[in-house]
Amino acid sequence: MTTATDTLAVRCTGIHKSFGEGEARVHVLRGTDFDARTGEMTFLVGPSGCGKTTLISVLGAILSCDDGEVDVLGHDLRALSSGKLADFRLANLGFIFQQFNLLPALSATENASIPLVARGESVKAAETSAREMLESLGMGDQVHKMPAQLSGGQQQRVAIARALVHSPRILICDEPTASLDAATGNTVMGLLRDAALAGDRSVIIVTHDNRIFDFADRIHHMADGVITHIESPDSSREDAP
Ligand SMILES: Nc1ncnc2c1ncn2[C@@H]1O[C@H](COP(=O)(O)OP(=O)(O)OP(=O)(O)O)[C@@H](O)[C@H]1O
Ligand SMILES: [Mg+2]
Repeated sequence: MTTATDTLAVRCTGIHKSFGEGEARVHVLRGTDFDARTGEMTFLVGPSGCGKTTLISVLGAILSCDDGEVDVLGHDLRALSSGKLADFRLANLGFIFQQFNLLPALSATENASIPLVARGESVKAAETSAREMLESLGMGDQVHKMPAQLSGGQQQRVAIARALVHSPRILICDEPTASLDAATGNTVMGLLRDAALAGDRSVIIVTHDNRIFDFADRIHHMADGVITHIESPDSSREDAP
């Protein structure tokens, strides 16, 4: 029998995270609970500075937390060494960062092929897959360009291609449509939706962009470092987890 717990890709419980020391200390995550299911698009929304990027960095194995439990695909991330965390990220997670984090000395194709090369695929095969992904994002004419030669929206699509190219189990996206026009934003959301529905994938999206809220299966609302409520597609409210 399948239970709700079986379909959980991510479960964060009672997360605390502070930055800085002494008087400069900022307590950002204050006992935050968050979960994301496979086959779903889970949105995380809230005012600037409330802790969204910090939370997805913790569940994405980029940042360690001070307290709480972080379970991702059945792995207790707090129990893994930094080497094992890096392997886990490479095998299971895809990221679209708020700042695109493209490598300036590499072309669009080379940037998008990085996860496959890092996994041990040949450069030729990796670049073929990267080009196909870029083409599906309307970037067929830009594949040889360097990031500095691309617009913000085009750079964002390279970052999206890089996140999707190795079919990660969990896609973590920080403002994936912020620099995109409505039509391209819809194309990108359609691709992310396909990724969520194919196999046992889960897509987590931080966004302020209410044009894309229709794509959400559940929306976690965050304020001052905690989830205040969860909204489901029929707009009914659930209790915070
Ligand atoms: N490395 C850091 N060192 C110190 N403070 C930090 C660090 N990272 C984040 N913060 C602080 O933590 C708080 C939450 O930051 P975070 O980036 O998680 O917010 P956010 O909800 O993603 O905001 P935005 O919508 O503007 O991206 C902010 O007050 C920020 O200044
Ligand atoms: Mg942020």
